[in-house]
Amino acid sequence: MRIVLILLLLAIQGVQAAEYKSNKSCKECHEKIYDEYRMSAHSKGFFTDELHREVALKASPKRYECAVCHMPAANNMSDILSGNAFPDPSNVTHTDAVSCYFCHTIAYVKESHKFNINLPAKQAEGYKPSLFGSLKDPDHNDKHSALHSPIYRANACKGCHSHKLNDFNTTIFEAMKPGEDSKECIKCHMPMLPGGVEKLNHKNRTEHMSHRFPGIRDENFRKKGVDIAVTSKANTIMVTLVNKMPHPLIIQPARAKYLRVSVLRGDKKIWSNYKNSPEEDRKSYFAYIFKKNGKRINIPATATETIAHNLPAKGSLKLEYRVPSLESGDIVKVELILRLAKRDCSKVVTLKEYIWTEEQIIKSVEYKVP
Ligand code: HEC
Ligand code: HEC
Ligand code: HEC
Ligand code: HEC
Ligand code: HEC
Repeated sequence: MRIVLILLLLAIQGVQAAEYKSNKSCKECHEKIYDEYRMSAHSKGFFTDELHREVALKASPKRYECAVCHMPAANNMSDILSGNAFPDPSNVTHTDAVSCYFCHTIAYVKESHKFNINLPAKQAEGYKPSLFGSLKDPDHNDKHSALHSPIYRANACKGCHSHKLNDFNTTIFEAMKPGEDSKECIKCHMPMLPGGVEKLNHKNRTEHMSHRFPGIRDENFRKKGVDIAVTSKANTIMVTLVNKMPHPLIIQPARAKYLRVSVLRGDKKIWSNYKNSPEEDRKSYFAYIFKKNGKRINIPATATETIAHNLPAKGSLKLEYRVPSLESGDIVKVELILRLAKRDCSKVVTLKEYIWTEEQIIKSVEYKVP
C-alpha cells in the first residue's frame, strides 16, 4: 500500500504545494538532531559559506545556478535559475540551505548526465506534510506524518553528491558512479549518537543517526579516511598512502590535500619533500586542475578540461624519496595536509576567514629509523 502511495506521489511530483516547514520548526521536537544539523555543512549556504558564495559570484554574477544543490528548498527556483531573482536573506527557503524538509521529502532521484535531479514529493495542500525515512512504524505527531519509504536510504545523497559537469561537458566533481546508491554514505557520514530521535521519545530509543554529517572538517573523523605507512632502506624512504574511502581522495575542486615528508635529526629538520610549495612534489599533491582552451583557469564553470591529481576510491600510492643521508634514530614524519581552499583560489576570490587557507593536519605518522 505504501509503495503504491509513493508511486502516486512520484507521478504527480512537481513544485511543493503544502506550506514549507522551516529547519527551526523541527527544533520543537527534534532538538538534538536540530543542534547537530546546525553544526553541519548542510546548514551552510549562500549567506553563510564564504567560499561557496565568492566562487558562485565569480562563476556567474547574475544567475545563481548553484541553487539546485546549495539552496534546493527555494520557493522561486525557476526565477533563481533564470536570473530573474537573487538569493534573498529574508526568505527562509533561501537561508535554510540544504534543509531538513527538503531532504526528507526527496521521493526519487533521476540519474542524469550533467548532474542528478532530486524529485521531491508533491505535498497535498491543506494537509500536514509527509516526511520520508526508514523507521518501520513511526509514531504519529501533529506536525507531519512519517512515511516509511524503502527507497529513501538509497536515494538520499546521490541527488547532489554524485557528480557534476559544467556547460562545456567538463567534470567538476565525481564522488559516485552511475547506479551507486547512498546507503554506504549514510553508514559512515551519519554514525549513531546517544539519545532518542525526538523529545517525547515514546519508544525509549537510546540512539539516533547523527545529523552533524561529519566530513573533512571533523578532526577525528577525517583521520579514518586514509592509512599511511612508512619504512626506510639505506637512504631511501618508502611511504604508502591508502585511500580507504569508497570515493576519491579529492571530491571538492577547491580542495588541496598533500603529503609533507620531513626528516628530523634531534630538533633539526634536515630534509623535506618540498621547499616553498607542496606542488613541487607533484606525486603527493592532490587537487583538480582546470583548463580552458589549454590555459589554466581557477573558476571551473567555464573549463573545457579537467586534470585530476587524485587517489581513486580504495586506491593506494607507493612513493620513494631518496634523501642525502639517513641515520639510526632519525625521525621521518609524514603528514597528510588539507587546505579547504587551495592556493590558486586566492588568485580569483578574496577569502576573509582564515579557515579556508590555513593548513590543517588530516593525519600524521612518525617513523624512527632503526
Ligand atoms: C549537483 C549539485 C551541485 C551543484 C549544481 C553545485 N554544487 Fe557545490 N557542492 C555540492 C556538494 C554535494 C558539495 C559538498 C561536497 C564537498 O564538499 O565535496 C558542494 C560543495 C561546494 C563548495 C565547497 C564548500 C565548502 O564549504 O567547502 C563550493 C565552493 C561549491 N560547492 C561551489 C559551487 C558553486 C559556485 C556552484 C554553482 C556554480 C555549485 N557549487 C553548484 C553540489 C553541487
Ligand atoms: C510536534 C513534534 C514534531 C515536529 C515539530 C517535527 N517532528 Fe518529526 N517526528 C515527530 C515524532 C513524534 C516522530 C516519530 C518518532 C518515532 O517513531 O520514534 C517523528 C519522526 C520523524 C522522522 C522519522 C521518519 C523515519 O521514518 O525515519 C523524520 C524524518 C522527521 N520526523 C522529520 C521531521 C522534520 C524534518 C521536521 C521539521 C520540518 C519535523 N520532523 C518536525 C515529531 C515531530
Ligand atoms: C540537496 C542536496 C544535498 C543532498 C540531498 C545531500 N547533500 Fe550533503 N552537501 C550538500 C552541499 C551543498 C554541501 C556543502 C555545503 C557547504 O559546505 O556549503 C554538502 C556537504 C556534505 C558533507 C560535508 C562535506 C565536507 O566538507 O566534509 C557531507 C559529509 C555530506 N554532505 C554528506 C551527505 C550525505 C551522507 C547525504 C545523504 C544522506 C547528503 N549529504 C545529502 C548537498 C546535499
Ligand atoms: C568508509 C566510510 C565512508 C563511506 C562509506 C563514505 N565516506 Fe565520504 N568520507 C569519509 C571520510 C573518513 C571522509 C573525510 C576524509 C577525507 O575527505 O579525506 C569523507 C569525506 C567526504 C566528503 C568531503 C570531501 C572533501 O574533501 O570535502 C564528501 C563530500 C563525502 N565524503 C561524501 C560521501 C558520499 C556521497 C558517500 C557515498 C557515496 C560517502 N562519502 C561514503 C568516509 C566515508
Ligand atoms: C542531507 C539530508 C538530510 C538533512 C538535511 C536532514 N536529514 Fe534527517 N535523515 C536523513 C537520512 C538519510 C536519515 C536516515 C533515514 C533512514 O534511514 O531512516 C535521516 C533520519 C532522520 C530521523 C530519524 C533518525 C533515526 O535515527 O531514526 C529524523 C527524526 C530526522 N532525520 C529529522 C531531521 C531533522 C529535524 C532535520 C533538520 C534539523 C534533518 N533530519 C535534516 C537525511 C537528512
